[in-house]
Amino acid sequence: MTALVGLVRDDLEACNRLIIARMQSPVQLIPQLAAHLIAAGGKRLRPLLTLAAARLCGYRGERHVGLAACVEFIHTATLLHDDVVDESDLRRGQASANAVFGNQASVLVGDFLFARAFQLMVADGSLEVLDILCSAAATIAEGEVLQLVIQNDTTSTEAQYLDVIEGKTAALFAAATRVGAVVAERPKAEAEALDSYGRNLGIAFQLVDDALDYSAAQEKLGKTVGDDFREGKITLPVLLAFERGDETEKTFWRRVLEERDQKDGDLAEALILMGRHRAIEDTIVRARHYGDRAIAALSAFGACPEKAALTGVVEFCIARAR
Ligand code: IPE
Ligand code: IPE
Ligand code: MG
Ligand code: MG
Repeated sequence: MTALVGLVRDDLEACNRLIIARMQSPVQLIPQLAAHLIAAGGKRLRPLLTLAAARLCGYRGERHVGLAACVEFIHTATLLHDDVVDESDLRRGQASANAVFGNQASVLVGDFLFARAFQLMVADGSLEVLDILCSAAATIAEGEVLQLVIQNDTTSTEAQYLDVIEGKTAALFAAATRVGAVVAERPKAEAEALDSYGRNLGIAFQLVDDALDYSAAQEKLGKTVGDDFREGKITLPVLLAFERGDETEKTFWRRVLEERDQKDGDLAEALILMGRHRAIEDTIVRARHYGDRAIAALSAFGACPEKAALTGVVEFCIARAR
């Protein structure tokens, strides 16, 4: 991650300046709320991927900066909406926008940021880029809605869970990296290799995030640990513990996740059951598998600092679990 930031430092600074410029509005609540979230930091992982992918493809122009900002706007908009849907109080180590400004303002400013993202795509001028990023935006929403449909249902499957995370998370990673090849006007095979890198990295990233929702130290995560449990979200750690549990354990999972009848000590009990069945460890093993696929996709490119940095990002994402 440090290597990646070092490689595209100037581009990232330009991208951050553009983000600040494009979140402005005469309606003061918009920059106020947007700045609350944006100034809190965030890893800027997706725009970094766009910047590095473009450089990996030998791109020397400036379009990738606008597209990186666009990708971060889409991400930020989905975070605003996601925290409303998930009723989350903590984001990036501080009170979430919905906790400070309320649900209504968060939803509407999220819409504004989406619209800003569309303006940045139009400014870029490529219909192919517009297609890639708009498709990703639609797929993210589908992933979030599918998740809503299957949550609290312990009969939902690993395949459905994978569809959810591929939609809500991996689609934007894939689009972020694919547009790098498109602006550089590289052959389709390279665009597809970068799509595959981003998609597999995104799946690995969300698997680790879902493990961290149970196992992380809250200060380090910057989000409330146990949010997924309280909501009854069916993530891989839960699916594995449920599938490997006996009837008494299955009854426990149905009560807490389906009936959402939770009392003090239930989260601790869930962690014991996950420990017994190695559910967190095996979620990380799965993340490693997708991480390896991401790295393999980069074999389409010759050795260079950008390729090394993108390989390092995979390690960074998996190492978050430690
Ligand atoms: C959070 O993404 C949403 C998920 C896909 C889990 P990040 O962890 O990349 O969020 P920030 O931008 O760094 O805060
Ligand atoms: C992240 O979903 C994906 C999107 C924001 C679309 P989560 O709900 O799992 O992510 P966190 O834990 O709130 O960051
Ligand atoms: Mg959430
Ligand atoms: Mg969510």
